[in-house]
Amino acid sequence: LPLLLTGCIAADVQVIAHRGASWDAPEHTAAAWDLALAQGADWIEQDLQMTRDGQLVVLHDDSLDRTARGPAADCTGLVREKTRAQLANCEVGSWFNAEYPDRAQASYVGARIATLDEVLTRYAGRARFYIETKRPEDAPGMEDSLLAVLRRHGLVGRGAQEGRVLVQSFSPASLRRLHALEPRLQLVQLWDDDIAPDRLEALLDSVRAYAVGFGPARRLVSQRLVDAAHARGLDVHPYTVNAEPVMAFLFDLGVDGMFTDRPAALRAMLRR
Ligand code: G3P
Ligand code: CA
Repeated sequence: LPLLLTGCIAADVQVIAHRGASWDAPEHTAAAWDLALAQGADWIEQDLQMTRDGQLVVLHDDSLDRTARGPAADCTGLVREKTRAQLANCEVGSWFNAEYPDRAQASYVGARIATLDEVLTRYAGRARFYIETKRPEDAPGMEDSLLAVLRRHGLVGRGAQEGRVLVQSFSPASLRRLHALEPRLQLVQLWDDDIAPDRLEALLDSVRAYAVGFGPARRLVSQRLVDAAHARGLDVHPYTVNAEPVMAFLFDLGVDGMFTDRPAALRAMLRR
């Protein structure tokens, strides 16, 4: 028999709310995370950026321009050039109403950029957190700051609650650093580049040295990839899967979870 290890994150296919329930509500806002939990998500995602004064905030883009509105001096340009106090002047809900009038809600206007600390406090004990170190090469110290916040919230380290947090990154260097600093923290290697067929096993062999999961772009997922990851004890969490036929296709391949903007749709598919 071939060596076949089971994935170690969870037994069931995991519903990972990509930036929250970001189809129906503005990404990375309390409205989106609340809705994700109401829709049956197992995990809520947070993409991390670091401010000029070293605070970890939750925003996908390194720039404020797409989703933030407010005084130009505070709410345009790069997050890393602003202080936390400046970002407190920005609003991140109204862009969604303008972009998606069919899904707009008056209550979205006024949503604020959250710090990671605020998110972990708000959802303590009632959510699992799937946190991405975003462009960590532009934010020296991001890993150390992240670990400090997670330790403060009892999510990693001695006596920590088990299985409440996963950290993901496209950067192997960022994940290797986290693994060296805190080997008990469970990590997922994201992957967007094409993988040459003769490089797949070597790539997964290197990932298994520090991670418990592999998060490929959905176009990269094949039966061979899923089987090769599972043979190495790695769970497979493709991103970002919003169409039901693709959800069903990936389910049939045996993936262990999916990032989706539509947690309700994925939950409904899994119930069928
Ligand atoms: O983290 C999985 C997926 O979110 C990666 O893509 O650009 O949406 O962060 P992105
Ligand atoms: Ca992400």
